[in-house]
Amino acid sequence: MDLFEYQARELFEEYGVLVPKAEVVDTAKEARRGADRLGGRVVVKAQVKTGGRGKAGGVKLAADPASAELTARQILGMDIKGHTVHQVMLAQPVEIETEFYVSYVLDRAEGRFVAIASAEGGMEIEEVAATRPEAVARIPIDPAHGVTADKAAEIARAAQLPPEAADVLVKLWTVLTEEDAVLVEVNPLVRTRDGRLLALDGKVSLDDNARFRQARWGDAGTAHDDPLEARAAAKGLNYVKLDGQVGVIGNGAGLVMSTLDVVAGCGARPANFLDIGGGASAQVMADGLSVILSDPDVKSVFVNVFGGITACDAVADGIVQALDEIRLTKPLVVRLDGNNAAQGRAILDGHQHPLVEQAPTMDGAAERAAQLAN
Ligand SMILES: Nc1ncnc2c1ncn2[C@@H]1O[C@H](COP(=O)(O)OP(=O)(O)O)[C@@H](O)[C@H]1O
Ligand SMILES: [Mg+2]
Repeated sequence: MDLFEYQARELFEEYGVLVPKAEVVDTAKEARRGADRLGGRVVVKAQVKTGGRGKAGGVKLAADPASAELTARQILGMDIKGHTVHQVMLAQPVEIETEFYVSYVLDRAEGRFVAIASAEGGMEIEEVAATRPEAVARIPIDPAHGVTADKAAEIARAAQLPPEAADVLVKLWTVLTEEDAVLVEVNPLVRTRDGRLLALDGKVSLDDNARFRQARWGDAGTAHDDPLEARAAAKGLNYVKLDGQVGVIGNGAGLVMSTLDVVAGCGARPANFLDIGGGASAQVMADGLSVILSDPDVKSVFVNVFGGITACDAVADGIVQALDEIRLTKPLVVRLDGNNAAQGRAILDGHQHPLVEQAPTMDGAAERAAQLAN
């Protein structure tokens, strides 16, 4: 789960990292009062779980409470990369001398965290990383030792950060370990004109597997950011939204992963990952289909089933029952193979739904689903 910037800021403050004074509000009127309390001049910042808010016009300086109200009115309701702004944070502006980038990221391939840091932080960090990778230091962290004062000094040196940054690096590492985070990113960490180091922006992603011991985030912790994923999760489905047009349902995570590849190989893009597991009951099939069909991007659906312990005739029965339960609005291509494939195919043939067709092979079915989507 990703935290909002204001939540990350709150954590940083608790662990002794300096942050600007701030308040979160959800109306323009409150923004005016908040700015008043913060001394008048404030930075108004969209609270959405995506980066690049500054470039999208979601971070603006307001000179006084009246303009904070106007600015908040502009930013609230704004759409930033598909995320609607429901809250803004008002932060005291600081006089920036230099912007740095620091983060701890879980590197799954290396099986450890890596510190990534640069003396050229700020809104252009992606550009810096792409064009001048030597300006970004990557230091792996030994999980047995973590970020000690020595390690932090090493990171600061490698990235050409001021030596005082080492202390911030140790504190951010404590945030990561104590809060069960898999990502802690500060961009920018700034040095102010008066020589202090402040975290002006923060992104923290928590490890969902540790949710049970991070109760403070409450139900917000179970909220999926994507509405379709939230619906699917409520039905207990193993669903991940992707950005293509071919809806995919399969039984078994491995089969579904290769189905995504095969669809992509046919010149289309999968709209989702959905593993309905071994059982593949009618209810699960109906729930899965209804989530996929309510995705406006979906143009066709590919059901890819390899009958194992659950035989294809049982799956076909499930599909037929699901079709009775929901209104199919998009073409469905079904590939049944494995245990009792012939019986399963016969059941679907007997049902004769105008939007349902079968293909005997996975490649053929993917080809057809891609063609229907395109
Ligand atoms: N409190 C603040 N005082 C002064 N400048 C700020 C403050 N907060 C953000 N900024 C400036 O706005 C830029 C963008 O804000 P940031 O919070 O990093 O949003 P994002 O990374 O989503 O664009 C920062 O790089 C910084 O230059
Ligand atoms: Mg930022």
